[in-house]
Amino acid sequence: MSKVLPEDCLLYLDGVTVSFDGFRALNSLSLVLKRDELQAIIGPNGAGKTTMMDIVTGKTRPDSGEVYFEGGIDLTRKSETEIANLGIGRKFQKPTVFESQTVWDNLELALKNPRGVFASWFYRSNPADEARIREILDLVRLGSRRNDLAADLSHGQKQWLEIGMLLAQAPRLLLVDEPVAGMTDAETIETSRLLKEIAQDHSVLVVEHDMSFVRDLDCRVTCLAEGAVLAQGSLDHVSADPLVIERYLGR
Ligand SMILES: Nc1ncnc2c1ncn2[C@@H]1O[C@H](COP(=O)(O)OP(=O)(O)O)[C@@H](O)[C@H]1O
Ligand SMILES: [Mg+2]
Repeated sequence: MSKVLPEDCLLYLDGVTVSFDGFRALNSLSLVLKRDELQAIIGPNGAGKTTMMDIVTGKTRPDSGEVYFEGGIDLTRKSETEIANLGIGRKFQKPTVFESQTVWDNLELALKNPRGVFASWFYRSNPADEARIREILDLVRLGSRRNDLAADLSHGQKQWLEIGMLLAQAPRLLLVDEPVAGMTDAETIETSRLLKEIAQDHSVLVVEHDMSFVRDLDCRVTCLAEGAVLAQGSLDHVSADPLVIERYLGR
């Protein structure tokens, strides 16, 4: 089954419910992400933010509800691999770069191993790939670190490298879970700039608790609580909502 989505809609969740041992982690969640939209998801621990990403990537199956991607593709009927191949890239909280490889080689591996298929033994570098790697290096602020081992990067730089590795796989949607946890203030500010740049030609859904970071993202904000949308709009609008204050910000 496919579904006709509005032209500007990239990701569509409607009435998504999922329970773990009788506990409703998502409770009729409805959410839309537009093409090239940057959207921040906030909300208390246990609100279902990570579970929502698990649903989109096919890691967890909803008990009920609809999940559609670009062109009306029903994600609830796709495997995790198929969903990755559709161009949905996910960045987990903990960076998973290859520490013993250089920054450049990490990006080259990501470019040549589209979504985890290990074909790198047959890889020969070519000018177009090298140009793309240089472009990504500049974007993720690692141009001067290209020959350094990933192990020698700061925590924040490892996060940027991993974002670069996702970009090497040419995703259309990036899901980013708590990217600035553990970063310095300067790295946090730089990450908001980076995500805004990426969102110029990608859709990005970012879960984050750091409110000054969310403010810097300057985008539409959705607050989840108890598995459903509590409020949505500008950060000012959402953070003035009495329910958001009671159940999240005021805690
Ligand atoms: N695989 C799972 N098995 C059992 N319970 C889970 C699982 N994933 C999430 N949960 C529960 O669902 C709720 C929502 O979790 P989560 O989506 O991680 O929240 P958030 O990311 O907003 O902090 C939590 O109570 C969590 O314990
Ligand atoms: Mg989480």
